[in-house]
Amino acid sequence: MLGIIGPGALGHMLGFFLKKSQAELAFQMLAHEGPRVITAKILWQGQEFDLKIDQTQGLCDTFIVLVKSYHLTEAMQQHLPRLHLGGTVILLGNGYLEPLLAPYRSARPDITWRKGLVTWGVKRDENDRYSLSPSGTIVWGGPGAPSSTEGLVLAALRDYGGQWAVDACDRRKAKWFCNTVLNTLCGAYRLPSNGAAWQLFRQDLEALSTEVYRLGREIWPEWTASKENLGETLRRLIEMTADNENSMARDLRLGRQTEADVLSGCLSLSAVPSRYSLLSSFHERVSQTPTL
Ligand SMILES: NC(=O)c1ccc[n+]([C@@H]2O[C@H](COP(=O)([O-])OP(=O)(O)OC[C@H]3O[C@@H](n4cnc5c(N)ncnc54)[C@H](OP(=O)(O)O)[C@@H]3O)[C@@H](O)[C@H]2O)c1
Repeated sequence: MLGIIGPGALGHMLGFFLKKSQAELAFQMLAHEGPRVITAKILWQGQEFDLKIDQTQGLCDTFIVLVKSYHLTEAMQQHLPRLHLGGTVILLGNGYLEPLLAPYRSARPDITWRKGLVTWGVKRDENDRYSLSPSGTIVWGGPGAPSSTEGLVLAALRDYGGQWAVDACDRRKAKWFCNTVLNTLCGAYRLPSNGAAWQLFRQDLEALSTEVYRLGREIWPEWTASKENLGETLRRLIEMTADNENSMARDLRLGRQTEADVLSGCLSLSAVPSRYSLLSSFHERVSQTPTL
């Protein structure tokens, strides 16, 4: 059985696609309190759908984890006892999560840990519907082959951008680079759109890119991605999402907690954080305590 941890925007998207593909796969949605019944409206390709996921009990052999980074520790503590010995945990949330995982890796050496990324855009709209962007991918992998449950999930998601990737780890690092530069800049200046970062703050974008790249190379000395390729990936991302409000800018505007700790907050992993003065000053500007 598959357990989706985190019945939020991405959790609903995943549940919707699994139901839509009519996969022969039992799954449950795990909220703070445990398995939860889900009923929601989903807007997909201009059509509205009713999503209903029943509450299923029982242990899981695979988890897909879709919580914000600041809830990851709590989610692992709560739900890992529901995972069979020798199970698989797939983490798809943004940011560099390894430091948060370290205690669970040593406590549960039986688990196969996978990481990946999602490029879907999913939001809850003003009518309380989950609205999905028209395209995107959901990717995870690593060395070796997918387990049988992973194979079923990937088959179910094939038409919706589901992919197995041997280089998932490098793709995550590239995503960390893009998110750290763009989210930090948009958050620090509270920009209304990603495009404004390119139009109004190109110099800051360049300087921040240089520091974030250097930080990535310090954290992962084996990382071989070129700064030019990452810069081009970032430029294309900004172009494709130019009109969107950046998620960190939105969280700050709404007084919500951000995922800064696993993005610009990776500064704390540097041997000499003062080498990253621009990133450091921007990090302070996005590390606000949420308002109640
Ligand atoms: N939305 C997107 O389009 C998108 C795209 C790419 C990547 N991402 C990344 O994917 C991750 C999830 O994003 P999201 O937009 O789906 O976030 P979200 O809408 O905030 O959903 C997270 C869900 O996790 C739940 N949760 C928190 N602690 C939990 C626990 N201990 N056990 C079970 N559930 C728990 C939250 O419940 P409460 O609200 O009740 O705390 C919430 O329903 C983030 O890292 C985000 O940056 C999102």
